[in-house]
Amino acid sequence: MNREKRNKNKFEKNILCIGGGYVGGSTMAVIAQKCPQYKVTVVDINPNRINQWNSDNLPIYEPGLDKIVHSIRGKNLFFSTDIEKGIKDAEIIFVSVNTPTKTFGAGAGMAADLQYWEKTARQIRDAAESNKIIVDKGTLPVKTALAMERILTATDNDIHFDVISNPEFLAEGTAISDLTNPDRVLIGSRETPSGIKARNEVVDIYKNWVPEDRIITSDIWSTELSKLTANAFLAQRISSINAMSALCEKTDANVNEIAHAIGMDHRIGDKFLNASVGFGGSCFQKDILNLVYLCRHYGLDEVANYWQSIVRINDYQKDRFIFNMLHTMFNTLVDKKICLFGFAFKADTGDTRESPAIYISKKLLEEKAELIITDPRALENAKIDLNDTDGKIRYIEDPYKASTDCDAIAVMTEWDIYTKLDYEKIYQSMSKPAFIFDGRDILDHKKLFEIGFNVFPIGKPKLSHFKDK
Ligand code: UDX
Ligand code: UDX
Repeated sequence: MNREKRNKNKFEKNILCIGGGYVGGSTMAVIAQKCPQYKVTVVDINPNRINQWNSDNLPIYEPGLDKIVHSIRGKNLFFSTDIEKGIKDAEIIFVSVNTPTKTFGAGAGMAADLQYWEKTARQIRDAAESNKIIVDKGTLPVKTALAMERILTATDNDIHFDVISNPEFLAEGTAISDLTNPDRVLIGSRETPSGIKARNEVVDIYKNWVPEDRIITSDIWSTELSKLTANAFLAQRISSINAMSALCEKTDANVNEIAHAIGMDHRIGDKFLNASVGFGGSCFQKDILNLVYLCRHYGLDEVANYWQSIVRINDYQKDRFIFNMLHTMFNTLVDKKICLFGFAFKADTGDTRESPAIYISKKLLEEKAELIITDPRALENAKIDLNDTDGKIRYIEDPYKASTDCDAIAVMTEWDIYTKLDYEKIYQSMSKPAFIFDGRDILDHKKLFEIGFNVFPIGKPKLSHFKDK
């Protein structure tokens, strides 16, 4: 037996993941940790990403991930750029490449851009020398699996591929706990003997640590649509509470009181009811737009309009925030120094994809304000996001230094550190009148007001020192 064969046989299964992003990287780290009997390899077309995965500085920040990767990398978890070899060696291939919203052609701004997925399917087909199970980890439009099957089977070799849908429900910042203790794992396949056999092989992976009653198997179309529906429902809750926040600001009601009161109704529940400057992240908007596109495709305009309104309210919330700043600061922001507390789309991640902070920064720059951006993890991404903008921007990690001489602070991300700062000291260092716009409602507004700030929360009465309020 040659050495390569012996190494291959050391493990019960060879699992490959194509795409080493947030989803692929975190999921494979947890699978490898929970299943030492499997060899897990992550490949990516981006060699920098792979170098980072093999270094001390992982390409993504996710609490708990470093520890796992460092403890098993080189044992049963490997990162490589050799996609072809990875495909040949693996029995099960997870695909976790990005599927952003299309920016061109038919369905631009709505439909999913499937070019990477399709290229990946062709790559698998061309390199495979034996039967494979292909597991789609992404959020894809319903019936994508069918298209994948067609590409994979469009050759005259007799290699058999089973396409399985196993959408990911992890949220960034809590990815490791979401993966180790999931509410449910969803695995869909064709309901043919071969499809069901392949599905069971994927179930077997998760059974290593997930209780069986939390592993749901289903047909592939329901599985794909469940993922879109889950994200649409979650985003809908945020848009619903954000819509109420606008009404609260007009009527002096308090949106937190409302969220608390309705959340205690078990039928509603208390999660995802935090009013905010708007939701961001790589999935919510993309998935809802996908759903809208799908509904329009099937002539269901009313249904499409219903879901599209979730995105409209989200845009409205961001616009309201800017308008409020402009209006409050005497209708001009020209040369005013505005310090953004946070740039990530949520706390505990360095990810800024679709972060409301991007849109708000651009609008503030259009008003000719000067921006000082601070964030404990996301400054590098912020620089990339605002790379093509004109205007004055500084990036400063220390929030005290960042806010010095500023006219206003706008909280964009609910980082815990912002609740623990010495606001007396910050107030002393700022221009007066000093304003705080709390886009996440995380600060002690009464205390800030007593210090001297003019405070503008989301969905709560403003606390202003101006007589003409
Ligand atoms: C991605 C998708 O965006 C999401 O819709 C899906 O639910 C799961 O996978 P994420 O892991 O957050 O989510 O994306 P990203 O961090 O962009 O990672 C994708 C990786 O795939 C990148 O590292 C990219 O280099 C890689 N890739 C992309 C390939 O390896 N091959 C390709 O052809 C395209
Ligand atoms: C989401 C889904 O939660 C996850 O299941 C799916 O797989 C991918 O998309 P993620 O985008 O990582 O995960 O973050 P999530 O915690 O859902 O937050 C999304 C956005 O909503 C963030 O900008 C967050 O700040 C915002 N949000 C969340 C609110 O504004 N209010 C809330 O009450 C909750």
